Parts: sequence; structure tokens; C-alpha cells
Amino acid sequence: MLACQKQLFDLPNDVSYLNCSYMSPLLRTVADAGVEGIRRKVRPYEIKAADFYTSLQSLRQAFAGLINASDENRIAIIPSASYGVASVCRNLSLQVGDEILVAEEQFPSNYYSWQRLAEASGAVIRNVKFRAEEWTPDQVNERLLQAITNKTAVVALGQVHWADGLPFDLLAIRQQTREVGSLLVIDGTQSVGALPFDVNMIQPDALICAGYKWLLGPYSLGCAYFGPYFDAGTPIEENWINRYNSEDFSQLVNYEDQYKPLAWRFSVGEGSNFILSPMLEKAIKQILEWGVVRIQEYCRSISRPFVEEMRSLNFRVHEEQYRCGHLFGVLLPKEFDLPAFQKELMRHRVFVSVRGNSVRISPHLYNDQRDFDKLLTCFRTVSD
Ligand SMILES: Cc1ncc(COP(=O)(O)O)c(C=O)c1O
Repeated sequence: MLACQKQLFDLPNDVSYLNCSYMSPLLRTVADAGVEGIRRKVRPYEIKAADFYTSLQSLRQAFAGLINASDENRIAIIPSASYGVASVCRNLSLQVGDEILVAEEQFPSNYYSWQRLAEASGAVIRNVKFRAEEWTPDQVNERLLQAITNKTAVVALGQVHWADGLPFDLLAIRQQTREVGSLLVIDGTQSVGALPFDVNMIQPDALICAGYKWLLGPYSLGCAYFGPYFDAGTPIEENWINRYNSEDFSQLVNYEDQYKPLAWRFSVGEGSNFILSPMLEKAIKQILEWGVVRIQEYCRSISRPFVEEMRSLNFRVHEEQYRCGHLFGVLLPKEFDLPAFQKELMRHRVFVSVRGNSVRISPHLYNDQRDFDKLLTCFRTVSD
């Protein structure tokens, strides 16, 4: 198993940062790549035409490797998850009565574009409810499967629920969407990089990931995979870099009708950001070096004793097979004194998120058992 990698980050020893699902800290090497990017812009005369493509290319290759996509031309560079979802929506023509299936309390960036599309087309959003009830994860997945019918035009989900890490059974969901002829669009922001995702296995029509959480990248740059459905698609903006032969700067005003292949067209303008792009590239390469399976295994192993203890204190946490190591929720009982708990967290410098009536805990390789011991102390103090 991997050892704790805290030395590669710049986190103070007294801080227990269990909040990667909010925003990851930067690796020292990633921060250095950003500084180097700033230095380059100080000397623009050293930036060559080829430099607009080199980091972009390596970044797309690294992300393709991470999700097991065989062709990096299927990867687009996006500034946010909402941008990726908007690009998807731009290419769907829905009919009155078509259904767009989403999960209850889905992250807003994977909702608002669907809402707009529904309003414009007469389609309806089918919001599958399960969060207020005592559903088991199997029942939740069953409800989702049952909701996918001949009316479903598109299913838009996370790989896990962003608020408590509940994993969706994407293999079964993909199979069901195939049977009814529906698209499958996945927001991988809260999982890709820490939980294996294989595009060959799941075959989503699109996979969209913001980069600043589990890809360990900077804010404002992410990656998306677009499957064959989008090969002749229309982007939401027309950036010159994405056109065929854009490398030849002398010919840029001989306007070019053709895009570069496959998903290139969906990359954001100025995607070859000289600061952010090398940072995200470096971060994903480090993740590849560690291995996603090993990251997941590490997070699971350091959180397991904590979870067992919490269960013995009668807190509700999903069972092992339904719980991700990197992101899970502790459901708070009604009588729980949240303000007192938050005070304890501050006192011990423990960082987690409160989402609705659960505490969201999201470790990474910079954490170890001691961080969970501190968190447990906070829970115990308030529960005693
Ligand atoms: C599931 C999910 N998707 C996307 C995002 C970020 O969206 P955007 O990049 O559009 O700001 C978050 C942020 O918390 C998230 O949890």
C-alpha cells in the first residue's frame, strides 16, 4: 500500500484537511509549475507557437490515460464542469415530453443547463428522489434504473453523489440507457482521480470533470471526454486553436471550416493557459504515478477504523461495499449539536464539509490515521 504523501504538499502539521471534495491542496510540484507559468508570461518573447499545443497535448494524453480512453482527441479542456455540461446540452435536440433524468440534490452545475434545455424544448426533468428516505444504496440504484424508460432522452448523473459519495451503479445504468436509447452523461468531478473510471467499460457519451478536486489541479481548468455521439457536434464558442492547422499562425486569417479531430472543438478558448495547463498536467501525471486504485485503497484503509467507531456510536455511515474511501457522509441525528461540533472542528483545526444533514469527509494521500483520530475526538466530545 502507498505511504502517506503529506511531505509532497505544503499542509501545516496541525491541520487535518479532510475536505478534498471541497478543494484539493496543491502538490508542491504543481504549485511550482504554476509559478514557472507566470515566469514564462513575464518573457513572452520566449513563448513559441508550438508552446500553445505542447502542454495541452500532454494534459489531454494524461487525462485520457487516467480514464482509459484510447484517443486523446476525445478529450477537451474545459474551464468548469458547467461549461462541459453546457457543451453537451448545446448538442441535444429534445422533443416535448422527453425526459432528462437527474438524481435528487445533484450539484447545480449539472442541473441548471438541463433545466434551461428542458424549458427551451418542452422536455421535462425527472428528478429521482431518494435523499429524504431511508433507502439503502441498492434501493437507490434500483429506483434510478426503474426511472429510465422509453421517455428518457438523457441520464445525467455523477459517478457518486457529491454530497455523501453514494456510488451509482453506472454499468447497470448504462445498460438500461442503451435499452431505451438514452444518452448517459457523467459528472466525474467528485470521483475521477480517486476512484477508478474506465470509459471503455462504462462507455458514457460524455464524462465531465472539474480539475480542482480529485484531479489535484488549480481552480478554473478541467477535462472532459466526448464520445462518438458528439463527433460532428457544435461547440458553444469558436476558438481559433481548435481549428484544423491552427499551428500555422501565418495562415490564421485564411479562415478554416474544419475543426481539429473529435472533441477538440469543445475545448475552451485559451485552453493552452500557460499557468493552469502545466499545473493540471503535472497533477494528473502524479496521480497516474501513484495509481488511482492505490489512492482509493489508501483512503479506505485510513478511514475504516474511524467508520467502525462511528457506527458503534450509532452514527449512520454507509456499509463498506457502498462507501467510497475518498468521499463519504456521516448522517447526523436530529438532536446533534452542530454548532458545538463546528467549534470543536475549529479548535482541533479539522476541516470537513457540512452538506445538508450530513458531514462530508473526503481524505487523500496527505491524510493519515491521526487526522481521523482528531475528527473522532470532535464527534465524541459533542456526543458524550
Ligand atoms: C459534483 C460536482 N460537479 C461540479 C462541481 C464544480 O462545478 P463547476 O466546475 O461548474 O464550478 C462541483 C463542486 O463542488 C461538484 O461537487
